[in-house]
Amino acid sequence: MADFKKSVVYQIYPKSFYDSNGDGLGDLKGITRKLDYIRSLGADYIWMTPFFVSPQKDNGYDVEDYYNIDPRYGTMEDFEELSREADRRGIRLMLDMVFNHTSDRNQWFRKALAGDPEYKDFYIFRKGKGPGIPPTNWESKFGGSAWEYVEAFDEYYLHLFDVSQPDLNWENPRVRAEVQKVLRFWMDKGVKGFRFDVVNLISKASFEDDFEGDGRRFYTDGPRVHEYLRELNEATFGTDSEIITVGEMSSTTLENCFGYAGEDSHELSMVFSFHHLKVDFMGNEKWVMVPFDFQKLKNILYTWQTEMANHRAWNAVFWCNHDQPRVVSRFGNEGKYWKESAKMLATVIHCLRGTPYIYQGEELGMTNAHFTSIDQYRDVESLNHFRILQEKGLTEENAYQILQIHSRDNSRTPMQWTDGPEAGFTGGTPWIQVNENHDRINAEAELADEDSIFHYYRRLIELRKTYDVIAYGDLEPLDIHHPSVMAYKRNWQQEKLLVVCNFYGKELTWQAGEDVAEYSCILGNYPQQQRDGGSIRLRPYECMVLYRKG
Ligand code: GLC
Repeated sequence: MADFKKSVVYQIYPKSFYDSNGDGLGDLKGITRKLDYIRSLGADYIWMTPFFVSPQKDNGYDVEDYYNIDPRYGTMEDFEELSREADRRGIRLMLDMVFNHTSDRNQWFRKALAGDPEYKDFYIFRKGKGPGIPPTNWESKFGGSAWEYVEAFDEYYLHLFDVSQPDLNWENPRVRAEVQKVLRFWMDKGVKGFRFDVVNLISKASFEDDFEGDGRRFYTDGPRVHEYLRELNEATFGTDSEIITVGEMSSTTLENCFGYAGEDSHELSMVFSFHHLKVDFMGNEKWVMVPFDFQKLKNILYTWQTEMANHRAWNAVFWCNHDQPRVVSRFGNEGKYWKESAKMLATVIHCLRGTPYIYQGEELGMTNAHFTSIDQYRDVESLNHFRILQEKGLTEENAYQILQIHSRDNSRTPMQWTDGPEAGFTGGTPWIQVNENHDRINAEAELADEDSIFHYYRRLIELRKTYDVIAYGDLEPLDIHHPSVMAYKRNWQQEKLLVVCNFYGKELTWQAGEDVAEYSCILGNYPQQQRDGGSIRLRPYECMVLYRKG
């Protein structure tokens, strides 16, 4: 059985990882070439975002053909080679399965639009409420109405995301059977991990207007979602105990996650939840500029940590992915304390109870893109909101400021391999601009420097494998209301771990509430920790991991 509690997952956004043929887009062969790099970091799994045939309106999250590789990324032979080479290095592959919706170019949707009733029922078509009035007032997550009118039927189809991403109708057993078929196909190729995209949106509760929000309460964690997941588990990955699964849970609740990722619930191995990453939003509104709320961040992380443990359910723990801005720019300090703050943030995540996910470049401390012109942006969500923000009356300058903070393109700039042209990502012109700071932040330099962020991540992964308390211990939050320190304890049998992190640039003394003389420091981001009895001196963004046995 794969011990996912001792494992770490490395996420690759293939388009931006490594380009092997000079066309400006990363590809599967590029990933194969960089396997030794991932191995030297120590990750156990590689999660790759979708590389199936797709018109790439949403960078592959709009799947046209689930059984074939998009030629932009390579061939099935390339995939098989990657799989073999990864296996040789003890690395397993995790595929990204997008089953809430397809691309509008998927043959199922084409047949639906051609009027084939069997395939029309693969999607969610509804009559409008009147001429020009969609069935409900729900908003698409990428902006605008969630319904698109089809004249030939005088009906609308639902798309919770882009208009080119129609939602599948999971009520239809044929849809569920097709989804199972896709999973079995990839399982037969030896795939040992699946990530399920926005999978808690697959069961729509009822189609009514939402006068309190954007409609999400009518389709999030819907009435049949647990049943669908159990069915999927039983029919596919549940038959292979080596497979690990993670569900992306959009705007979910704790109670639902007890089920999604419960030890005995036969749904998924673990969940991504996002509440801790909304602490720089205003409610659910992401397109604003507000400082992050540190207290809220701690409260949310601690609630999820302790409640999931109490219900024997498992979290995926992370700061970064291809939808989030870079964490060092977001909750750390890109300037003077770049290195210290990147290491501190890594420590917080990797010592939590849960399986850590590292997003490509995070282990180098890659920062936000700092794009200044709309031509530099590629992401459909960013482009839509740049327009919407200005329609709402914001100046262009304000709209740019907001994009610079929240755009998903912040994390999609090419991986910074070297200080050379295009950061060593491609011999051609990259599909999205390389961050200028690659002269300073790049893998080559960090591999050569023992004190780098890369080597710090490597040590964190090692710790998880060495100390059972990190993988299995329970978590006890400490000094919850401290205005700048996040500290917690982990306990497992005779082992204790004390993690202390200063989230800000000011030096301070923190009282541990116990004598820490018996603890040894197994990791920190400054040389020589300063502690005396129960007092710990913390320099700017300083963190330390203290350990004792017995
Ligand atoms: C998930 C993906 C995101 C994608 C969306 C629609 O949130 O992570 O990149 O745009 O689903 O598939």
